[in-house]
Amino acid sequence: MQKTGYYRKSGELFLQNISLKKLANTYGTPTFVYDSNSIKHSFNLLDSIMKPFNGKIHFAVKSNDNLGVIKYINSLGAGADVVSIGELKRCLKVSVKPKDIIFSGVGKQKDEIEFAIIKNIKQLNAESIEELKDIIEISKNLKKKVNVALRVNLDINAKTHKKISTGDENSKFGIIYDDIVSAYKLMKKASFIKPYGLAIHVGSQLFDYDVFYKTFSKIKKLALELRNKGFEVNHLDLGGGFGVDYSLKNLLNYETFNRALNKVFKRDDFQISIEPGRSLIAESGILLTKVIREKSTNLKKFLIVDAAMNNLIRPTLYNARHSIIPLQVKNNRLIKKYDIVGPICETGDFLGIGYSLQQMKKNEFLAIMTCGAYGSVMRSNYNSRPSATEIFIHDDKEILLREREKIDQLIAVDIIPNF
Ligand SMILES: Cc1ncc(COP(=O)(O)O)c(C=O)c1O
Repeated sequence: MQKTGYYRKSGELFLQNISLKKLANTYGTPTFVYDSNSIKHSFNLLDSIMKPFNGKIHFAVKSNDNLGVIKYINSLGAGADVVSIGELKRCLKVSVKPKDIIFSGVGKQKDEIEFAIIKNIKQLNAESIEELKDIIEISKNLKKKVNVALRVNLDINAKTHKKISTGDENSKFGIIYDDIVSAYKLMKKASFIKPYGLAIHVGSQLFDYDVFYKTFSKIKKLALELRNKGFEVNHLDLGGGFGVDYSLKNLLNYETFNRALNKVFKRDDFQISIEPGRSLIAESGILLTKVIREKSTNLKKFLIVDAAMNNLIRPTLYNARHSIIPLQVKNNRLIKKYDIVGPICETGDFLGIGYSLQQMKKNEFLAIMTCGAYGSVMRSNYNSRPSATEIFIHDDKEILLREREKIDQLIAVDIIPNF
């Protein structure tokens, strides 16, 4: 197994000093568990790459919006990248400084823009000329200055899954290259806008050196062209998207990003920010689940477990293949091929198809690895199912971060009409 902080003692899976079987029995399942050491390791690795550039890391809260997780990553020295007023309020609630918060996203509404301006956040990333005009008008009405960066669509093929590719002109993200000069003119004319620079994010799960190199070269070229035209372009926000190996074969290393960054930029060219989510948090998290029962047909063996697509939608949505392992290895068990599925009434409700595992028995536990990012945050209550519990392991101690919802709480938000 890759060095993620999870290890075995007498065949049983541990994290720091904590038995995960004990956690599963105490808190029930499904339960997400996060390892603080793993988050710190990923952060320090990236920080050492950014240090020579004086660069700032902003944690993409969309990847995991748990208050405890945001607070911990902030304590390491990261700011935040948010895409909604809800995420912004989460950050403020755990005292992330507004001057360390970037607000991205294509559909920012009036109340969101107003709130961000009033709170004096570091920067709003405008994703279209139309949105820029709204920001100009709102800042004028408030008579309050705001830093605005333009998110550029560089029409780059990110060579990743199409549902997490954001950098080509078919996607809804960013302002096309040809419109950037007119957008900058608009910003320069507006009395309450401080033109801050350019932002990009071409996609997620990026590994390819050429994608990073092409993206950084294009954004630098554009920034220099703008400077030549007399515009102020001091900040470049290079986005996130650094890839994680879900098969656990390769250690996280940011190698291609680091190489491309150093090839294209020199220390004082620009003030550089990045917005990583997945690479900071994915490897830290696992999802614990209990076997409900085995079911065999003429064609297949299913393991029906108590986690489902409402807890972890990545296999269904992206065909993601997470490593799935027993919490307790038993050497004398037969190896069987299973489809691991949840109880939700959808054929698409699966956690893993065609996994070879030791034969599993009722009430035994499995760990679904690399679930820290885009796991719990994408939860739903489909089939009236509550969300999972979330636990943080720090300094060999367990900390409850989020309680499982109670079914009565889910039902209580509905209003029964008087028919
Ligand atoms: C604008 C923006 N920044 C940052 C991220 C974080 O990406 P990742 O979690 O892959 O690092 C995303 C994710 O889609 C994004 O849309």
